[in-house]
Amino acid sequence: ADMDIGIIGMAVMGSNLALNMADHGFKVAAYNRTASLTKEVMEKTPHKNLQGFYDLAEFLHSLKSPRRVMLMIKAGKPVDSVIDELIPQLDKGDIIIDGGNSFFEDTIRRYKYLQEKGINYFGVGISGGEKGARFGPSIMPGGNKDEYKHVQPILEAISAHVGEEPCCTYIGDNGAGHYVKMVHNGIEYADMQLIAETYLLLRHVGGFDNKKLSQIFHDWNKGELHSYLIGITADIFAENDENGQPGQLVDKILDSAGQKGTGRWTSIQSLKQGVDISMITAACNTRVLSNLLEERKKAASEITAPVYDDKVGEDFIEEVRKSLYAAKIIAYAQGFSLYNSASEKYGWHLDFGKIASIFRAGCIIQAEFLNKITEAYKKNKNLTNLMFDEFFLNNINENQSSLRNIICLAIRKGIPIPAFSSALQYIDAHRSPQIGANLIQAQRDYFGAHTYARIDKDGVFHHKWQEHYN
Ligand code: 6PG
Repeated sequence: ADMDIGIIGMAVMGSNLALNMADHGFKVAAYNRTASLTKEVMEKTPHKNLQGFYDLAEFLHSLKSPRRVMLMIKAGKPVDSVIDELIPQLDKGDIIIDGGNSFFEDTIRRYKYLQEKGINYFGVGISGGEKGARFGPSIMPGGNKDEYKHVQPILEAISAHVGEEPCCTYIGDNGAGHYVKMVHNGIEYADMQLIAETYLLLRHVGGFDNKKLSQIFHDWNKGELHSYLIGITADIFAENDENGQPGQLVDKILDSAGQKGTGRWTSIQSLKQGVDISMITAACNTRVLSNLLEERKKAASEITAPVYDDKVGEDFIEEVRKSLYAAKIIAYAQGFSLYNSASEKYGWHLDFGKIASIFRAGCIIQAEFLNKITEAYKKNKNLTNLMFDEFFLNNINENQSSLRNIICLAIRKGIPIPAFSSALQYIDAHRSPQIGANLIQAQRDYFGAHTYARIDKDGVFHHKWQEHYN
């Protein structure tokens, strides 16, 4: 038995991760329930450090002790059934690593279940899609800290790097890694939604064609907005359609977005934890709404569109850019405030600065400005909301007038910008001296004797409200 690690699941992510490990000198055993897939990978991408197995017992026997078995299979039931298949064939101290997008509560449950059987379980968030898996993803491992040493060398070696630093760090106990990956995806949804709204603004308010859009995003990518998603967006607007029409492919794509669910999980979780991540929720809702093609058609013909055709000023593009940056900052502030609450709720002791730092390369939300998040937590590790860090605060103060202008423009033109508006609502709800909750408390006390607190004296109060008008 001399194989360093075994991977179960030879679909896109599993096979690319296997090759990545093999490249880094680890001997990788590959197994897939449907043998033909393993065979295909072995034939198409042979590697001296990669060996295919067609029998689960042989696969497991090939592994060094403690055995490391990584699951790269569809999240949900399949993970449970493979775990149950593995248990009788594993020894105490062996390790199962789930590298899929599993729901963190499932990971917590499986971690406990396997712990009772003496098997170590790691729930590992992996971001970066196919290319990341092959050449260096961002990796978020959660599990037993003392056992982490058994998986650390492999995970760090295959991860993306910023200079010498691996984009992989131990996140926390049990489900912490999958939780952090889930919220990463939520932030990814908000980031993508903001870019989509920016596109609508530039196109329908600015009147720019795809060639110009590509140029704008390309230029932005050289500055403080520098990020993977801005970069691929510049590429997308430059892509020709099948007839060679320049930059036209994006116009041929149906205006209806899919989702596998991690963004929705984030949003549901935020409600459970009582944390406002309105931008991520807005992004989820917009994807859902985008699918209502018939209803949207009906609404488009029956609901009058606003008439407004003021010309935009010369600084329009720059105002949009500033708004995008400010709103993006709010999306991260929301995502990280969810981390903050989860860290306490689940006892994970999350290192927020470190989490931001492993997002700097490999993952979908990789961006220049993540450094600023790391710095913010370095300055103050008890920061409750990123908005209160000096850099973020200055940015919000400098750019909020652009954000207001752009939002007003979009609203007058009837362009849907749910994520942009949520960002501003979040700022104003925090900033405004009054949020209207005094009236809500009065109503609650009126109809349900739910009581209220007062500004002028301590205590719990109930009032016998009079019916003045009814
Ligand atoms: C990543 C991505 C990856 C996947 C998303 C897509 O970090 O590499 O987030 O996990 O592409 O799950 O999510 P939707 O299908 O929900 O858009």
